[in-house]
Order: sequence, then C-alpha cells, then structure tokens
Amino acid sequence: MNFQLSDEHQMIRKMVRDFAEKEVAPTAAIRDEEERFDRRLFDLMGELGLTGIPWEEQYGGIDSDYLSYCIAVEELSRVCASTGVTLSAHVSLASWPIYKFGTEEQKERFLRPLAEGTKLGAYGLTESGSGSDAAAMKTTAVRQGEHYLLSGNKIFITNAGDAEIYVVFAVTNPELKHKGITAFILEKGMEGFSFGKKEKKLGIRSSPTLEIIFDQVKVPVENRLGEEGEGFKIAMMTLDGGRNGISAQAVGIAQGALDHALAYAKERKQFGKPIAQQQGLQFMLADMATKVEAARLLTYQAAWLEGEGLPYGKASAMSKLFAGDIAMEVTTDAVQIFGGYGYTREYPVERFMRDAKITQIYEGTNEIQRLVISKYLLT
Ligand code: CAA
Repeated sequence: MNFQLSDEHQMIRKMVRDFAEKEVAPTAAIRDEEERFDRRLFDLMGELGLTGIPWEEQYGGIDSDYLSYCIAVEELSRVCASTGVTLSAHVSLASWPIYKFGTEEQKERFLRPLAEGTKLGAYGLTESGSGSDAAAMKTTAVRQGEHYLLSGNKIFITNAGDAEIYVVFAVTNPELKHKGITAFILEKGMEGFSFGKKEKKLGIRSSPTLEIIFDQVKVPVENRLGEEGEGFKIAMMTLDGGRNGISAQAVGIAQGALDHALAYAKERKQFGKPIAQQQGLQFMLADMATKVEAARLLTYQAAWLEGEGLPYGKASAMSKLFAGDIAMEVTTDAVQIFGGYGYTREYPVERFMRDAKITQIYEGTNEIQRLVISKYLLT
C-alpha cells in the first residue's frame, strides 16, 4: 500500500492549482454575486485537458485516471465550488455514460467534443415529482419508426442552457417500472427541446441550474444510449462515479475554508495575541484538518477502486456522505473563526459555507447515501 501521490498526480494538482488561483479565484466572488456562468473558464479547462482527464487519447482525452480527475475537481472547488461542479457534471455525469455505454460512433460524435472541451455536457434525471425516487420519472419516449418522441421535463439540471450535449432518461415502457426506462443523448437546438426556469440558489451560484423541457422532441434511434430498458441501470451506475466527483468537490470546499481560517487565525489579534494562540481555536483547527484529511482519503480510495476496475459503489456513497457532512461542518467552523467578518461578503468563507450545503443534497441526498450503503451492508 502506498499513500504517496504519483508524479503524474502531483503534476496535475500543481497545474490545476495554478490555473484555479490565477484564472478562477479572482472572479469567484463576483460570479457568485452576479449568478454568472463564465464559459471562458470552461474553454480554458478544455485547453488544459481537464475536460477529458480519464479518457484515452483516441476519444480526445489525456489518458490519465479517476484520481487525477478527483484532484482536479478538488483543486477547482478549493477556490470556486461552482467551477468544480461544472467539471464534475461534465465528466462524471455526461461523458462517463457515453464512454461506458456508447457505441464507437456515439463516442466519436459526442464523447470526443466533450473530452476536448469544445462542447459542454449535462445530465437530466430529476423531475419535479421524482428526486430521491428516481425511478418514478414521468418523461416519456415513444418509438415511431427510426426515432423516439420525447415529452416531459427535468428540473435542477446542472450546466443546462449552456451545455450542448445532454444525457437524459425517459420511460419507454411504463408497465415495466424501472426496467422500462431508457437513456438518450440529446443536443441543444433539437426541435422541441427548450429551457425553462433558471434557479436562484443559496450556493454554487455561478453554476447554472435550469429546467429542461421536451415537447415532442424527435430523437433519432442512433441517439439512444444502451438498449431500451437499460436506462435506470445506466443512471445508477453513472451516479456511482458522479458521487465521488461531489466528494472531491466537498473536500476542495472544506480545504479552501480551512486554508482561509488558518491564515486569518494567524493574523487576527485579540487579547494582545493572534487568535491562533488560543487553545480553543487550535483544537477547532485540528479537528477541521483531521476531517478534511479523512474525507480526502475516502475520496481518493473510491477513485482508486474505480481506476483498478474494482467495485466502488459503496466506497463512493461513503465518501460523498462523509465529505458532504464534513464540508458543512468545516465551513461553518471557518465562519465561526472569522467571527462577524466571516458572516459578511467581504471574506470568502460565507460563500464556502453556502456552497458546501449542496454537497449534502445533490447526486443523492446524504440520506439516500445511507440507504445505498446499508443495502451493501445487508445484502
Ligand atoms: N448500479 C447498477 N444497478 C443498480 C444500482 C447501481 N448503483 N443501483 C440500483 N441498481 C439496480 C438494482 O440492482 C435493481 O435492478 P433489478 O431490478 O435488475 O434487480 C434496480 O436498479 C432497482 O434498484 P432499487 O430497487 O434499489 O431501486 P430504487 O427504486 O429503490 O432506488 C435509489 C434506489 C438508490 C434510492 C435510487 O432511486 C437513487 O439513487 N435515488 C437518488 C437519485 C439521485 O441521486 N439523483 C441525483 C440527480 S443528478 C444530480 O443531482 C446532478 C447534479 O445536480 C450535479
């Protein structure tokens, strides 16, 4: 067993940290304030190869691995969780199912531009009546000759509006319940495919979250991902990896808040000395750092398991559960260390605290993670 990052992983961390600090951090607060997505940052990530980290060069990727991908999401989220989730949804949720279940033709048409970062991806599973109960979706796809007609809508879709490629799920046979769900690849601009409400959110405000609407969208059979009825399995398997991307985001948010808290505690003087010299604060910082490290180890372990081709569903549910919870705790403690200043928008820690909350909710609430973990334990 070796806990040392390889030269390649250290190099990726350095590259992404430099990029994050130079290009992403300076505008993080204003993009949050203005709820503005910056496509230029995504384009730059494409140029650096971040959009195709785990995929082979033949698909437009850089032939690295899931651990490098998690390190990239972590480093982006250390300064801006919105940018972290842009990459996470793009790689884990849109590109991964095409890589895993797509035909060679679909990989050339859709995975390559996603990997090269010339197109942005999104994933449409959630509906107003089916969040945690994903199999209860109502969107339908009716086959008519060489195409399907998709009708319905999906909500809370990360990257929607700006994304060009969407992996979405619809019911092709309602009698078969979850076995009657099928996956499709949709493209922005298809007739009948439009965007609804843009959410105004507590956190990750520079990541767009929109409703997507299907009004008899004519989807060619060659855009079906996998076979009819395989959609639920594809959705669940996609989330197995996606959840670890969110763990990486949570670790990055927590690390970012801890870094700010450490710097502030050394600088801020009260009672004649830096507050870092108060044991109460030292204990708090020690607990924060320990939690971040434990969450990082769970996250890297799940990424390593996936890279080795070993089962990783339980590991990534555990990492998402733990990392999401500690991100909330650590960012709340960071605000506490900053005191009144931490509660203002003059300092970044309140943004980290607002951003952390979503990691306990999306890609399966932490209550759903507990369900998933307990299923592994009990069956
Ligand atoms: N891999 C492969 N197959 C799986 C699977 C997995 N991880 N999980 C379940 N399945 C299969 C089961 O084996 C079963 O197959 P059979 O019928 O052949 O036996 C089938 O799927 C049904 O399984 P369950 O009975 O366990 O399904 P369920 O209806 O009880 O639901 C659930 C299980 C875990 C609660 C699931 O509904 C779930 O994950 N809910 C949360 C949804 C979610 O995470 N949404 C996130 C939206 S995306 C998002 O948030 C993105 C973003 O914003 C960035």
